[in-house]
Amino acid sequence: MNDKQLVALQAAKYAESGMLIGLGTGSTANYFIDELARLQRDEGLKITTVASSTISALKAQSLHLPIVALEHISSIDLYVDGADEISPELTLLKGRGSDLVKEKLLAKAATTFIVVADESKLVSHIGQNFVIPIEVIPFAWQLIKQSLEKIGAQGDLRPNAAKDGFWVTSHGSYVLDVKFENSLDAKTLNDFINNTPGVVEHGIFYDLTDAVLIASNGIVCERRA
Ligand code: A5P
Repeated sequence: MNDKQLVALQAAKYAESGMLIGLGTGSTANYFIDELARLQRDEGLKITTVASSTISALKAQSLHLPIVALEHISSIDLYVDGADEISPELTLLKGRGSDLVKEKLLAKAATTFIVVADESKLVSHIGQNFVIPIEVIPFAWQLIKQSLEKIGAQGDLRPNAAKDGFWVTSHGSYVLDVKFENSLDAKTLNDFINNTPGVVEHGIFYDLTDAVLIASNGIVCERRA
């Protein structure tokens, strides 16, 4: 069993019958979805799920997990998802797969948000290994880019797969992938980007995490916020 699978199985122990559970996106979240399906099939777990992306919704459906649409929920009991980066204060960077709008809605709506990852995701500061994805209303991208440049950002619109146009998210947004050369802290960045008109959402998940499960060489360690 690899480390991603190990943390996913550990997180599934938080699932209880009667819960509405948010499904994350990515390879670690996929192991969690597989385990929920196994618990439903073999141990009679009775849950309902809500997905953070089309790909996770399709996976849940194929495994016969009951699923509801995001627009029909007002809160959820548990959300389990991976992350691209995790800082010592448990701020996250997410959205490499550009599903960050639904991911952040579920993180905020969850009574308990548990992040599952292997130790490769631990960083000293957000933006260390990956660019910060910022979903923007298409006609606002130049104005937003300019605002961000004033606080030291560098970056561009994410290209589409064929590299002949721009990536468009499932909500019709463009994605600006930016890097900050200076050492602005996550709270400052979060506040600044939140206050920039035309931004739909961004990949810094500040003050949303309840617990992080990190696996390293077969050993799981839990950190609480
Ligand atoms: C998806 O948009 C991201 O936020 C994922 O949670 C992230 O990319 C984690 O993926 P892995 O579990 O595959 O590393």
